[in-house]
Amino acid sequence: MLCIETAAGPCSLVVFGASGDLAHRKLFPSLLELFAGDLISRRFYLIGCGRTAMTHDDFREGIDRALRGRISDRAASDQGDFLKRCFYVQGRYDSPDLYGSLREEMTRLDELFEVDGTRLFYLSVPPDLYGVIAEHLSESKLSCPAASGHLQQVRLVVEKPFGKDLRSAEELDRKLHLCFHESQIFRLDHYLGKETVQNILVFRFANSLFEPLWNRNYIDHVQITLSESLGVEHRAGYYDRTGALRDMFQNHMLQMLALVAMEPPSSFQPDHVRDEKNKLLRSVSPISLREEDCQIVRGQYGPGMIDGRSVPGYRQEDEVDPQSQTETFVAARLMIDNWRWKGVPFYLRSGKRLPRKLTEIVIVFKSIPHSLFHEAGLEELPRNVLRFQIQPEEGTFLSLQAKRPGSKICMSTLEMAVEYHKVFGVEMPEAYQRLLLDCMIGDQTLFTRHDSILLSWGLLQPVLEQWESGKADIYVYESGTSTIDPAEKLIRKLGHTWMPL
Ligand code: BG6
Repeated sequence: MLCIETAAGPCSLVVFGASGDLAHRKLFPSLLELFAGDLISRRFYLIGCGRTAMTHDDFREGIDRALRGRISDRAASDQGDFLKRCFYVQGRYDSPDLYGSLREEMTRLDELFEVDGTRLFYLSVPPDLYGVIAEHLSESKLSCPAASGHLQQVRLVVEKPFGKDLRSAEELDRKLHLCFHESQIFRLDHYLGKETVQNILVFRFANSLFEPLWNRNYIDHVQITLSESLGVEHRAGYYDRTGALRDMFQNHMLQMLALVAMEPPSSFQPDHVRDEKNKLLRSVSPISLREEDCQIVRGQYGPGMIDGRSVPGYRQEDEVDPQSQTETFVAARLMIDNWRWKGVPFYLRSGKRLPRKLTEIVIVFKSIPHSLFHEAGLEELPRNVLRFQIQPEEGTFLSLQAKRPGSKICMSTLEMAVEYHKVFGVEMPEAYQRLLLDCMIGDQTLFTRHDSILLSWGLLQPVLEQWESGKADIYVYESGTSTIDPAEKLIRKLGHTWMPL
């Protein structure tokens, strides 16, 4: 077994938006798991910042409630020790007073827990606050490293969305870069922390078997699916201004595409990997929006049935504009203009209120050039398919043709399956564990660099503009269906079909 894992050194973490849903559901449980696994030093403390007035004890009680049912037994035994390291500072994000109080508290806690180095500021707040908070952190000198430290010891962690189009993403970068150097900014896309997504790199570049086949000579097409059965839930306020293209495509989908299709980096150094991802994004051809060869379509869920239960349409959801033109589904055919991939379609689709939760990357290989079995009527044999399943269960599956025992020639498609939780006998860690630990260690490999964000927005900008011009009506699909007409038309154009949902 070859393993590389580094524990984080002494560190402080300030979470802005600490009473929010993300912090409770994901950050705190992940931090406790890391703490219990000795991947976070005991010289650690956490400060929650928020507008709600709360004592340290109230804050700890909130964390305690959030942890229930979300942590392992090992973590539960360290919970008390972890909670002792949690503190709360209240204030308005645009008020210098908050940063004054934070500074005082950090000075006290740095001494108490002997934290003299790494400082992380995690912005779990709406993105329009990123600029304001970064500016105050800089003005209050909280963004400055300790006298003996270096710049990279102070880090800013931000979550998508990084802007809502190319212009706003550039503006956000400009604001952040006024206060923090790029090497201090960790733009978190939680999909990159998922085990199977990370495994794409290992699978591709630690096996000699697949890489020679990984190109236009052997691969017919690729499908990336990110389907959810959930609707917009309680996030209509955010979602109705956002839509699936911004919410899923610009980030998770394009990042997964880049990992699958990029060239081998020369090493696992963060910038070597990220340079290759960017080169790939730069090679994606502009997305045609012409009616005759349109490469991207959208839809919005209408009423329907999910798991035997009737659900309302998007426009009937609370807080959604009843005339909303916001898309909850996007499908695209992307082409990559480079030597390796010329002519290979990459089909991407993502949507809400589809029949089930499924995230997978499917590589469909070309048909065999000649069938030996044509006399038995086996002219067209099923193609080999390699599937990286990311959700619900994580695993890698390869379909092969094999002879069935018995008759002279009788073939079936078999699937070789590597289901990670069965093979490794452990639950897959939450993506945030990996990502939080990497922030603490200062490893930016799994974080999106600013130029990657701009490249993705640049690719999607013409689409956003056309969709926002209000010229085309949106296609409404029934909740729970897996056949969405415009997406079917899109994939059939080149004679392909979507993998079943
Ligand atoms: C988020 C999107 O980034 O990813 C949500 O904002 C979506 O709309 C979620 O539901 C899906 O994440 P996961 O990890 O549950 O697949």
